[in-house]
Amino acid sequence: MRFLSIIVSTLFWWNSGLAQDDGPANYTDKASGIVFNTWRPTKDLTFGMALPASALTVDATEFIGILTCSSPTGKATGWCGVSLGGGMNSNLLLVAYPQQNTILTSFRWATDYHLPAAYTGAAKLTQISSTINATHYSLLFRCQNCLKWSQGAESGSAPTSEGYLVLGWCHATSSPVSGTCPASLVVRQHNDQGIFPARFNSGAVNAAYASWAAKATNTVTGSCGNAATPGSSTSTRVTSTAKTAPMPTPTPASPGSCAKTYTVKAGDYCYLIATNNGITLDQLYRYNPALVCNPLQVGAVVCVQGR
Ligand SMILES: *[C@@H]1O[C@H](CO)[C@@H](O)[C@H](O)[C@H]1NC(C)=O
Ligand SMILES: *[C@@H]1O[C@H](CO)[C@@H](O)[C@H](O)[C@H]1NC(C)=O
Repeated sequence: MRFLSIIVSTLFWWNSGLAQDDGPANYTDKASGIVFNTWRPTKDLTFGMALPASALTVDATEFIGILTCSSPTGKATGWCGVSLGGGMNSNLLLVAYPQQNTILTSFRWATDYHLPAAYTGAAKLTQISSTINATHYSLLFRCQNCLKWSQGAESGSAPTSEGYLVLGWCHATSSPVSGTCPASLVVRQHNDQGIFPARFNSGAVNAAYASWAAKATNTVTGSCGNAATPGSSTSTRVTSTAKTAPMPTPTPASPGSCAKTYTVKAGDYCYLIATNNGITLDQLYRYNPALVCNPLQVGAVVCVQGR
């Protein structure tokens, strides 16, 4: 169940940093012939999907994706990701980053605005191709069991039959810590993020889907040695690393877009602040794009009501 009118109206009145809904672009990958609907919510990230022929009437369980992200010129560093459910919490997150000559990926799951732990559900990513040049890295992949997710008591889905999805993106310019093994990935706070409406046109679906999906034959696991069990929880590491992660001072989305602010006191935590002010965690995070909840900075001024 999605509360779309709420999400969409939030999207429109919280304009700063949000992509406009200009509809998708049609993009054909030359090497594979795969046709995508693509969206570019920021200059740093383009995401696209190709769906099975029936996906606009029957919810698809998989898609072929293209994720193209910028990296600092000449460096091939950083990481980027998409949330298949829009917000960061309780949605399937896909993180991708260049590592030497390959692009590694990891499915992640967040329950608070901590750095997310590994996702333990059935989502499976198989690569079709990847390219890394001086300014960008780009991955074509098949994502199976990626449009429905659950972990712990939470679950959700991205219903393609509605004709559009609400997706999230994030982008960082510094590379993950211990990135050689995606299962034990630790990422620092991203530089930039947002939520965007991903509307489909008839170019999103194609009868050739099965033959395109068959091109996904490359399972890229990175180098994990014997120590890491794929899917094992990294929450302990994530939490301890969060303490050393950069702590941007949380500031309201943009001056004038905040109707009410709150100053963080000792003992506060994000969920408490949201509840005390009658908003959801998602709203709190949306009003405060740079907010770091773990650790939450005492004295920081956060926006608790948008305009
Ligand atoms: C690098 O890759 C990006 C994304 O695939 C592409 O748009 C850009 O043209 C490429 N740059 C060069 C110099 O080939
Ligand atoms: C995208 O492709 C679909 C299907 O071929 C077509 O109907 C639509 O007009 C195209 N849209 C754009 C913006 O080119």
